[in-house]
Order: sequence, then structure tokens, then C-alpha cells
Amino acid sequence: MTEPLVDQPVTRDPANPLAPPVEFTQLREEQPLLKVRFPNGSTGWLATRFEEGSQVFNDPRMSARRWRHDTPEGEVAEAGEDSPFDVGFVFMDEPEHGVYRRLLTRHFTPKAVQNKLQPYLDRIVDEHLDAIAAGPETFDFIEAMALPIPCLVICELLGVPYADRDGFHHATEAMMDMGRSREERDRGAHWLIDYITQLVAEKRRTGDTDGILAELINKAEGEDAVLTDRQLIGLGVLLLFAGHDTTAAMMGLSTLTLLTHDEQRHSLMGAPEKIGGAIEELMRFLTIVQFGLGRVAKEDLEIGGARIKKGELVVVAMNAANRDPRVFQDPDALDLDRKMTRHIGFGYGVHACLGQNVARAELRTVLPKLFARFPDLRLATPLEEVPMDFTGTNYGVRKLMVTR
Ligand code: HEM
Repeated sequence: MTEPLVDQPVTRDPANPLAPPVEFTQLREEQPLLKVRFPNGSTGWLATRFEEGSQVFNDPRMSARRWRHDTPEGEVAEAGEDSPFDVGFVFMDEPEHGVYRRLLTRHFTPKAVQNKLQPYLDRIVDEHLDAIAAGPETFDFIEAMALPIPCLVICELLGVPYADRDGFHHATEAMMDMGRSREERDRGAHWLIDYITQLVAEKRRTGDTDGILAELINKAEGEDAVLTDRQLIGLGVLLLFAGHDTTAAMMGLSTLTLLTHDEQRHSLMGAPEKIGGAIEELMRFLTIVQFGLGRVAKEDLEIGGARIKKGELVVVAMNAANRDPRVFQDPDALDLDRKMTRHIGFGYGVHACLGQNVARAELRTVLPKLFARFPDLRLATPLEEVPMDFTGTNYGVRKLMVTR
């Protein structure tokens, strides 16, 4: 067997906080799939190029049933009854995966987001900007905006009380933090399961009809029920954790990036029609899923010249793939005018992010309004002192002190 070339997890260089780990980008040029060793001693593969990464996501011979979700762990097993997410469809294959996903898609189309969410989004963003204007000149953008807006949006969509945000945010943070022990991460996951279980019971008791959760509760009732309670809770948990931490991380990091690229920020603010393309470029450039996402081979197969054995884990290093010079010209440069066909910042294939139109709407609303309201916004600390999150599944900024 080929010796492992890389030990996972590989982290970013603090001196160059907006770039993917240098090992990934160097090794990407040597071969498309690298043999890696995970912390538990098992070995697998890392796909660092765009073409092969997309292929891994899109190949029906690759299964999303990797357990212990994320990838620096390198653990692969069939999800069992005792795994908290065995009912989260992000870990399922077809045809089962599609059955659950189709229950939700109509809430996440561009039209549904525009009609149902946009007016709410405009209102809450304006209210938060007013609060910032009334507060101290120097403030933490994460606390003031990047965390509350995605939390409010997911609460509104699901019908979850915003008053519970500290609990579900800290549980999600623990669950997604690869720097914490497995026990701590599992505690976070179980907290979310208990929370949604209680919320479902409460909604049943009060007959609350607000949000997607109430709609799913209906689908779990009566003779023609299409969901069991466990499946219902799995869906609620998945939406809650997937829907806010990701967008909060992206919002903080995008703001930091725009603040450190003055010329491009000014040009964008002078041409609001460019915001859609600019957000795709930020998604590509930042690719917040920092340790990549895994798939397990269902049979022996070959991708990018690598012979992958049945049961082996292949991790797509999306941040390296989204900077593959074979596909993107001058890939390490931020270019808000870039013309590109696609990136894999929201994943690819059947599991591509269900909430991507929600995330886009949030970013498209917050970023222009923020810089229009506070055109002199600037970092209050040097870039090297901005505390980055090197251990979260989603890369981000822990605290972003800015002056308006
Ligand atoms: C910038 C913000 C976001 C990023 C970067 C992001 C990223 C991703 C990625 C990479 C996947 C693919 C997972 C895989 O292939 O294994 C995914 C799936 C998913 N995302 Fe997002 N996401 C974001 C926001 C959201 C939001 C706002 C929601 C909900 C409102 C959401 C809900 C989901 C769900 C339910 C899935 C599972 C889809 C499936 O398996 O079919 N995401 N996301």
C-alpha cells in the first residue's frame, strides 16, 4: 500500500488566514488524490482538485453514509440506531435521501426565499444596523450582526423561539468544533436532539402552526403520516445546525475579506448589480468548510488514477479544489468580477446545500446595507490579531472588532 503522504487534519497558516492550508495546495500539484492518515490511525484519500472533487461528490458509487460526520476523525461506519444523526438526510444515499429532501425543497427555492423571507430579512438587517448606529463606534461585528441575523432567519423559517438561541448556538458550536473531545461534541449533538424533541412536544401541545417544523409535525401525524417522530426530529436538528453556524461564519469572513480589499469593496459598492457574482466569488475564495467533506466508497473504484477500495473514506478538500488553477485563473486572488461557471463551496451533486438560496439572500442583504450605512467601516485591530477559528468544521472569525 502507498504510504500516507499527509496526516489529517491539516490546518491553515495563521500568517495567511484567508488561504487554504499550504500543504493542500502544494500537494494538489503533485497528484489529484493523496493518501492520508486520520487521527484514529485509519487511512483514506484526500481529493484536492476541482474535477476529481466534483466527481467524488457526484459518483453514485460514493456513499454519504460516513459516520462521525467529519472528516479529520476518519471514522467510517454504517450509521446505527445510537448515532444522533442517523436520520439526518445529509448522511443518506438515494433513494432514501431524496424522499426527505423533497419534503423541504419548496421552502428553499429562489422564489420562496424572495417572497417569504426577503421582507423579513430587510427589516431585521435594518433594525440591527440602527442598533449599531446607536451603539459604540467600535463594536464586534460577529455579535452585532453575523450571529444574530442567521439565527433569526433559521428561527423564522423553522418556527424555533429566538429566545433559545444561546442554547442551540453553543450546542452547535460544540458539535462542530474538531478541537474539542468527542464527548463534548456528542454532548452538543444530544443537546440539539433533546431540544428539538421538547420543542416538537410543545408545539403539539399548543397547536402552534408556525414554520417548517409545524408543517413536518403534520406530516408525522395520522394514518397517512409520512414521517416517524425520530425522522421528524432528525430533520429539525439537521436544519437547525446546518442553517445558522455556516452562514454566520461566512458573513463574518466575507466582511473581513471586504475590509481587507479596499479597492474591490469600493468598486462593488459603486455597482450594486455586481453583488450576486461577488458573493459567489467570496464563497469560492473563502470556502468555509475547512476540513472538507467525506464520502465512502461502496465498491472498489478508480478516481484520478487512485485505486480506492470499498469502505475507504475520500475527503474532498473543497478549499483546495476551489482554488485549482486548472479551473480558475489566478485562483488565489479575490476577483469580485470573476466570471465562473460554478464552485463547490456549497458542495455538489445530490447533497448540494439545500439552504444555499437562504444563505445567498442573507449575504446579499447584509453586505451592501452594511457598507452603505457605514462607508468608513474599518478593522479596529490589525488583521494578524483577528482571532480566527482554526478548529471549527466551518472556518470563521471568532470576534471581529470594527469601527464605524
Ligand atoms: C454560507 C452558508 C452555507 C454553507 C457554506 C453551506 C454548506 C453546505 C455544504 C457544503 C453542504 C453539502 C454537504 C455534503 O455534501 O455532505 C450543505 C448541505 C446542507 N445545507 Fe448548507 N450551507 C450553508 C447554509 C445553509 C443554510 C442557511 C441552510 C438551511 C436553512 C442549510 C441547510 C443545509 C442542508 C439541509 C444540507 C443537506 C443537504 C442534503 O444532504 O441534501 N445550509 N451545506
